[in-house]
Formats: sequence, C-alpha cells, structure tokens
Amino acid sequence: MSAADPSSNQPAPSSDQASSGQIDHVLIEERLFPPSEAFTQRAVISTQQQYESLYAAAKDDPDTFWRREALEHLHWFEPFDQVCQWEAPDVKWFVGGKTNASYNCLDAHVAAGNGDRVAIHWEGEPGDTRSLTYRELTDEVGKCAAALKSLGIGQGDVVSLYMPMTPELPIAMLACARIGAVHSVIFAGFSADAIADRNNDAEAKLMITADGLYRRGKVLKLKETVDEALAKSPSVKHCLVLRRIGDDQETPMTAERDVWWHDCVDTQPTALEATPLDSESPLFILYTSGSTGKPKGILHTTAGYNLWAKKTFQWVFDHRDDDVYWCTADCGWITGHTYFVYGPLSAGATCLMYEGAPNQPAEDRFWELVEKYRVTILYTAPTAIRTFIKWGDEHVDKHDLSSLRLLGSVGEGINPEAWMWYHEKIGGGRCPIVDTWWQTETGGIMMSPLPGITATKPGSCTRPLPGVVPIIFDESKRPVTGDQGGMLCMAQPWPGMLRGIWGDPERFREQYWETVPGYYLAGDNARRDSDGYFWIMGRIDDVINVSGHRLSTIEVESALVNHAAVCEAAVVGRPDAVKGQAISAFVTIRDREPDEALREELRLHVRKMIGALAQPDEIRFTNTLPKTRSGKIMRRLLRDIAEGKESAGDTSTLEDYSILAKLREQDN
Ligand code: PRX
Repeated sequence: MSAADPSSNQPAPSSDQASSGQIDHVLIEERLFPPSEAFTQRAVISTQQQYESLYAAAKDDPDTFWRREALEHLHWFEPFDQVCQWEAPDVKWFVGGKTNASYNCLDAHVAAGNGDRVAIHWEGEPGDTRSLTYRELTDEVGKCAAALKSLGIGQGDVVSLYMPMTPELPIAMLACARIGAVHSVIFAGFSADAIADRNNDAEAKLMITADGLYRRGKVLKLKETVDEALAKSPSVKHCLVLRRIGDDQETPMTAERDVWWHDCVDTQPTALEATPLDSESPLFILYTSGSTGKPKGILHTTAGYNLWAKKTFQWVFDHRDDDVYWCTADCGWITGHTYFVYGPLSAGATCLMYEGAPNQPAEDRFWELVEKYRVTILYTAPTAIRTFIKWGDEHVDKHDLSSLRLLGSVGEGINPEAWMWYHEKIGGGRCPIVDTWWQTETGGIMMSPLPGITATKPGSCTRPLPGVVPIIFDESKRPVTGDQGGMLCMAQPWPGMLRGIWGDPERFREQYWETVPGYYLAGDNARRDSDGYFWIMGRIDDVINVSGHRLSTIEVESALVNHAAVCEAAVVGRPDAVKGQAISAFVTIRDREPDEALREELRLHVRKMIGALAQPDEIRFTNTLPKTRSGKIMRRLLRDIAEGKESAGDTSTLEDYSILAKLREQDN
C-alpha cells in the first residue's frame, strides 16, 4: 500500500490502469488519500479508536448501543420497552415506543430554539428562489397534513406523490409522516402506466402532483400524465395539484376528484400536531427494480429508519451547524428520501434544493449554486461527475468553490478517473470524498469512509458503519477467506433495514433471505482487501445501473414484448463512459421490417410503458436469440456482443453458433 503525501494530497505514483476510467480497474487501485489534519481536528469522528469502539459496541452489544442512540436522537412520545426483536427475516426495532418522523425533523428543532435556522434554500430552474426556516417548514407541513385529513387521509393510507423538486415535495412527504399516512414517491420521469402500476400495487387513496415542472428550459406537463394514470387507478379518490408552472387555465381538473393545493393546503386555518406513532408504523414505500419484471415496493417504518437516517448522516457527512449541505438527488429516489429529507432534517441541517437540470441555463449551474449558497458538503452521483468532466473544466473554473469541505458519491461505483477529477477539480485537493455504498432496501448508508479518519482509495466504499456486519459468501455459501469476490450479505439486523416488500412477504423472503438462510442478501458482488476495505463489483442478478438508476433487464424486456411486432426480447447492460451502463436490447420481430422506424417505435414504446430512463440505447434485430439447449437465453454472450468483445467463455451449449455472427454484424 502506498500513501499519498497528506500535505499536498497528491496521489502516490500509481498503476496506469487506475486512471483509465474503467470500473474493472478499481480492483488494483492502490493510492491512498488520508484526510488532512485540519479536517480531522474538527471532525465528528476524529480518531480510529473512536470508530473501532463504536463499531465494537454496536456489534457486540447492539441493544445497549441502539437504546442509547435512540433515546438521544429521537423524540419519544412514549418510551420503547424492547430495542430489537429479530427472527430473520422479521425485525422490529424500539418495540412499544411512540415517535413521529415529522416531529423529529421539524418540531424538535423549533422546541430546541432553532426554529429560525434555514432548513431549505430552494432554487427553481428558472431562477426563482425560496428559503424556509425550520419554523416555517413546520407550519407548512402542518397545513398540508390538515389538508390531507380534509381529503379523508388517515393513518395507514397510502399517498402517491408525483411532483417536481419544489419545497412542496418534502412538505408533502413530511405531512404524510405527520399523520401516519404512508408516502409512495414516484419519480416524475415515470410514465402513466408506471404510475398506475404503483398506485394499484399500493392501493393509493390520494395522489399529489403539480401542473408541471421546469426541465432544461422547457415546461413539462405532469397533470395530463397523472390523469392518464388515474383512469387506471381505481383506488385513488382525490388528486391534489400544486400550481408550479401557473397553468390554471389549461390544466385539466376533474370536478369532485381534483383540488388545487392553493385552495386546499394554503387555506388551512391551523397547523396540525404530529401524531404519536408506533415505532413500526409504516413511513413510506418506495418502488425499485428487482430481478423480475415487476417493481417491488420497499417498505420502511418509522423509528428505526429515522434513527438510521440521522445517525448515518451525522457520521458520514460530519455535519456541523454552520454547514450548507447539498444532496443533488431527486426525492423520487431513496437518496432523496434519506439524505435530502429524513437524515439532514432530523439533524437540523441547512439544505440546498434545486429543481432543474445541471446545464440550464448553462453547464456551470451546479457550480454557480455552490458559490451562491456557499455549499460546504456536496453529495452527488458518479454519472453526474462524468458528465461534468465531458462538459469541460472551464465551467468549473468560472466559480469560487472554496466553501466546499466534503464531497460524497452514491448510486454506483465511482471509477478512479472520475474520483480524481472530483477530488482535484471540485474539491481542490482538500476535500475528503465519501463513496457511500447502500441500497433502497438498506434505508441508509452501510459502508463509507468516515471523512475525518479514513484514508480513502478511489473506487472503494472502504469500511462498514457501526451496526453493519457485512460478510461475503462464495457460491457454495461458505464465507470467503482472503481477498476473493463473492455475494455480499449482512449478518446482523440494523435499524434502517427494509421491513418487507409491500403486499408480497413471499418475494421478500425469497429474494433477500433464502440464498444464504438467515443472512440479508444485498444482490451485489463484493470483495474485501487486505486492509479490510470493501470493493463493490456489480450485481449478481439481472439488475442494471443506468446513470445511477436501478433497472431490471426483465422489466425492459417485458415492455418490449408488449409491442405487437416483438416476439422475444433480451436486454443487457453494457459499459458506458457517462451513464455507467447503457441498455442494449436484442429483439426478434414478426410482420415488420427491421428498420430505423421500428427501432424508434420500440424506444417510444418502452418510454410509454416505463419512462424515458428505461429507453434502450441500442436495439439489435435478430431471427433468434442465442440459447442453451435447455432454452435459457445466454445473456453473457449478448453482453459480450453489446460490448463488442469476442466471446471468450464457454459456448458449448449454444444452440446455433451462426446467431452470434449475425448479431455482431449489426452495430448500431
Ligand atoms: O449495485 C449497488 C449500486 O446501486 C445499488 C442500489 O441501488 P438503489 O437501491 O437504487 O440505491 C441507490 C442509492 C443508494 C446497489 O445494490 N450502488 C449504490 N451505491 C454504490 C453502488 N455500487 C458501488 N458503489 C456505491 N457507492
């Protein structure tokens, strides 16, 4: 292991592979970047010993550890009488207690005298701004909660949110939490069909949306899409509509069912107190892709999730009262839930929220915002970083980024080239980078550097947080020894873990708990190096990661075969310099010419069925798909073709060798 010189923060000489930008090459990355002394001195966790003792306490005596943390960090209307009830896969945390996540995020700060601290600085894409203090946010959430009640929403009811990144989105989430309603946020890029599927699966009673949003200088209408979804969502009784683009006249409103936010929320006479809720009261469902075609509703509950969000935020982001924190994720994803809403707000942070695209009006918008708001902590995704690299350094150079002190990365592995650029160009060589590994299911960060103590290696999420006990199994379900890859699992429950898949206990058990009985199966491959650092090596299932968005290849295949011209489809991910992975589709067709017009039609069809984020980047037509003699599609071969590689692996069971040659011919 070679250490970088901490004074200059320049890397020690490294292998040339490390800067090639290929994710595979992180496996031999050897550079080390310790935090500067100045950072360490002021850090929340500032010595290795402090981490080791927290880690040991959480592992060896989790009851005592989490009892203390829960009492210190959450407000309890009624105390809990048991810390953890665990019988895999069923877990309950803080049994018997009553708390409320909205109270912990809002009222607790007002009660502590911090009501005048800014909770959210918001900037819309066109440049409109709004700042809300914790007191103001509490009032807004209270009014929205009262409005939800007036629309017949009560404890346990599911509310679907399909909204722009405006303050009303976290307000609506927290309003649900305030009265014990369960929010299900649907990213505002999904299609009407995808919304309807989620509404129906969760039996949502209310939908909250907006007339539209601003994206890349254009207006994107939302209400029409929602109307199309609501026509197929019989459980939804009302739709609350925020005026964002000012389109009162043109926005279709259905009498009795639809109501404007400014008529229903803004007019509420009183703010509403937070309801004391059981620790295990459902807080939200968030749909994510699994290894089958149907997205699964991951369920998180109140106390454990809230505590995990707050503690991990404090540990990993080293939060201090004078920080201005910016998580660039949309609330439609888990990162937005945990590290824009529940974690930072529970910790009393001042957060920046931005509505739009990073290149509107120009490619320097992010850096302009960092400068304008004096952002100190920035949390974003590798795909964004790679895009900024592509756009060129001149956009960064225009701005003063000296306020930054800590950088974070999430959503996929960060390749060393992007890591180095982030470190040097954005962080000025002085900001630690926390590469955070976690999942929708884990609720919050599981493995990450602690910025005050961890010497980072570009591409490694380093070590587990207190309470996280990872273990890697080989294919025969034996723990791996030494520096080998295998299936990443968790040996111990943690407060933020998922409680189930909404309405599908069988799938929950089967997907996460049966491969290695009694252990949580993350679905990622990982290895642990001789320093105890973890390296994530990609998925073990048919999940792909496109621009940090998780997609099931089978979900895209189902959308393709839903088109009348398609007989069979196979979808694989191939490496992409900006998106991480791009979508390659192989399709067999009937009664149509395999031409560009059909390609475009299929792309649009997937867009309609799922959303723009699932559109294939390339579509190859074929007469047959390569299959084994038992009829299984040979995805490995298709991946090789998509990558333009000669297949080195075993093709002995391939039914028809000529298929491969034909597929290779069609590079589009
Ligand atoms: O494969 C891992 C990858 O993203 C998956 C989780 O996706 P999702 O539930 O959408 O949550 C994304 C935001 C937490 C993981 O199974 N992943 C996420 N973070 C990293 C990562 N892979 C490598 N390094 C990371 N830091």
